[in-house]
Amino acid sequence: MIEVIKSVDDLSRQKWDVLVPTMGALHAGHQSLIKLGKNLGEKVIVSIFVNPLQFENKADLENYPKSFDQDLQMAQEAGATAIFSPSESDIYPGQIEKIEAGSVGDIFEGKSRPGHFSGVLTVVKRLFDLVNPKHAVFGEKDFQQLFLIKKMVNDFKLPVNIVSAPTIRDSSNLALSSRNSRLSDEDKKVAQVIYQALTQNNIDDARKLLEKVDGFSLDYLEAIDEQSFNLATPDAKNKRLIIAGWVNGVRLLDNAVVE
Ligand code: PAF
Repeated sequence: MIEVIKSVDDLSRQKWDVLVPTMGALHAGHQSLIKLGKNLGEKVIVSIFVNPLQFENKADLENYPKSFDQDLQMAQEAGATAIFSPSESDIYPGQIEKIEAGSVGDIFEGKSRPGHFSGVLTVVKRLFDLVNPKHAVFGEKDFQQLFLIKKMVNDFKLPVNIVSAPTIRDSSNLALSSRNSRLSDEDKKVAQVIYQALTQNNIDDARKLLEKVDGFSLDYLEAIDEQSFNLATPDAKNKRLIIAGWVNGVRLLDNAVVE
């Protein structure tokens, strides 16, 4: 039976091999992170904490889906040892020492969501300090988040190994996200254009496709250099196409390697 840990004292009585940080509303994408975690170590803990600090938009925070009982079941099914479900005062007991996300924190996702990455890094660092895992697993779907977490671990020399896991898609190739639960079937059809764009031969065709679909509102589409997260120059070794946009008010992100 999966253990539910609510207090920091109970958490620190045990040693954890792997942390999978989440904001709940678990889906098959999260389960793939937990399963990957199980290959890295025996004791896998999944944190569930909807972090107010990373929501610049109050309505988005309030509308964030919550499904704790189902989360427990899904985490257990995937092989997690425990769920850590802290209160806001466990995570932020006193004055918050915010982690700055630097210049990459202000572009693309960070430009549209000011302060978002500082909020993400602050909570992730706090979770690392509390759980002290050997490994932590994050999905590639939030590629800029993954880049900034790796950078923070490197900058602060944190004793944790960051492992990334590929994006999981549904049968229509829509990247799984907790926010998808707010999409109607019609919205999901519109959202299919994201993957179609990612599989075009060039960025101009991808942009044309995204701009012509009714109901999809493009925020950004860019090819970035995975090394620096800056716009890719033609000679960049590892390039990735990143996309963000809205369908019916729901923000969706995706990315793919440029072959
Ligand atoms: O990707 C997420 O779900 C969140 O940004 C994270 C990493 C759990 C931090 O709140």
